[in-house]
Amino acid sequence: MAEELNRKVIVALDVEGREQALSLARELSGSGCWVKVGLELYACAGLGIIQDLKDLGLKIFLDLKLHDIPNTVARTVKALAGTGVDMLNVHCSGGYEMMARAAENAREAGVKTGFVPQLIGVTVLTSMTANELAQDLGVGGELEDHVVRLALLAKRAGLDGVVASAQEAPVLRQECGQDFLLVTPGIRPAWSTTDDQARIVTPRAAIAAGSSYLVVGRPVTRAANPRAALDRLWEE
Ligand code: C5P
Repeated sequence: MAEELNRKVIVALDVEGREQALSLARELSGSGCWVKVGLELYACAGLGIIQDLKDLGLKIFLDLKLHDIPNTVARTVKALAGTGVDMLNVHCSGGYEMMARAAENAREAGVKTGFVPQLIGVTVLTSMTANELAQDLGVGGELEDHVVRLALLAKRAGLDGVVASAQEAPVLRQECGQDFLLVTPGIRPAWSTTDDQARIVTPRAAIAAGSSYLVVGRPVTRAANPRAALDRLWEE
């Protein structure tokens, strides 16, 4: 049962270097979970880490949150898709054209490798509060409406799903349908600390809300025994 639930967990390998990442990945391999390579690990270890993680049999979400002009993002997506990652992402706020070209290039890369990675759009970062969105960024209206607007744009552009808070998962399920992937960070089991996340949800509540994948970082990676912490996610 835990292994089945673990298949919905993407552990964020937010560590300083290759050795630390691989030691964590070795502990997690065989548990069913995916791993996520984010900006920090990419900056420290480079793209070579992808093959190392694939060799451990892990599924990989490359979370670089691309955001640039359509041509640059599309060409970068093509290059990254060729590494064999299972999922990668762009910021929805880059706009329709950027996302559509990225999706097209992911598919084109797949023709060569025989495998098309899932392309996901980042809506509003889970560390951002409604106040910050409205006052600092000047985005009017409700935060949830903005998330839905970005998700529908991503869907229209041909993306496979979005990253959003699990708090927004019910409305996204309703608006974007059953097949649209909802990848939700900001997951905090009752036994862990909140850190810098603002819009948090517990693991089981996130699944119940309609999340397809839960992104979990520090509650697992900073635990004395990460593998045990992974299984403990489901104790509530
Ligand atoms: O340690 P924690 O569980 O907060 O890690 C969450 C991970 O999810 C981090 O790697 C962060 O970059 C990522 N993330 C997020 N909010 C988003 C998109 C990604 O927290 N909207």
